[in-house]
Amino acid sequence: MSPYPVNMSAKPDVRAFFDDATNTISYVVKDPESNACAVVDSVMDIDYAAGRISFDHADAIIKDIRERELDLQWIIETHVHADHLSAAPYIQQQLGGKLGIGANIRVVQETFGKIFNEGTEFQRDGSQFDKLFEDGDTYQVGSMTCFAIFTPGHTPACMVHVMGDAAFVGDTLFMPDGGSARADFPGGDAGVLYDSIQKVLSLPDEMRLFMCHDYGPNGRDIRWETTVGDERRFNIHVGAGKTREEFIKFRTERDAQLDMPRLILPSLQVNMRAGQLPKDQSGRLMLKVPLNGL
Ligand SMILES: [Fe+2]
Repeated sequence: MSPYPVNMSAKPDVRAFFDDATNTISYVVKDPESNACAVVDSVMDIDYAAGRISFDHADAIIKDIRERELDLQWIIETHVHADHLSAAPYIQQQLGGKLGIGANIRVVQETFGKIFNEGTEFQRDGSQFDKLFEDGDTYQVGSMTCFAIFTPGHTPACMVHVMGDAAFVGDTLFMPDGGSARADFPGGDAGVLYDSIQKVLSLPDEMRLFMCHDYGPNGRDIRWETTVGDERRFNIHVGAGKTREEFIKFRTERDAQLDMPRLILPSLQVNMRAGQLPKDQSGRLMLKVPLNGL
């Protein structure tokens, strides 16, 4: 028996928006019984070399919601992403909805507040968000009672969000042939990630799983949807009964070889502020580059 209020009979309509600059998939999730919807993991475009941001990806999501006359109730961040910037405030400003993330965002804010040498005006209490989810917290998207599962390991604040028979796994899992995400960012932990993945794999076999990223391993086309059963059977890092010890060894060795994501510095500074752009003392929008800080 799952400790969570699983309801496989609610089958939301899930529309995916792939961002090919960062291999991120954002979602609009529509309640089957009403026009209520949620957005999961939106993307703000950045030309990092030029220091220029834009909103083509978010505008496509906003257009879709407007065209279908949906009522945006929640904007969900599965975690503080290190590889793309969130467009949550931009979408919220235009369409409303409550912005939510895992309660451990406070830990992430503490860690990166130090790394980026932020002053006291940078609040480390998660107050930039409307809702801080704890494990098992529920919320409504129209008729659907949705819930969050605390899944740390990739980062300390990761949550998987379940809406009916669809779960949005963030970076807890990749597609079965992609395996899992790295666990070596500050606050990450391979063993903890393994334990979190087991929570996801204990959901019903037929539950649809939606990835936050896909990189098309071995040249295959980009895909983002699988099921709990397929992950349990076929995931190359954790499937078919791989042990915790095997996973930790593999993950740790692999992570030691990975470069930092191209957009980690702007992503963290923006996403730890719930997608708000940082400003310098004069009020100008400004990013920092801490040297040898990560
Ligand atoms: Fe991530």
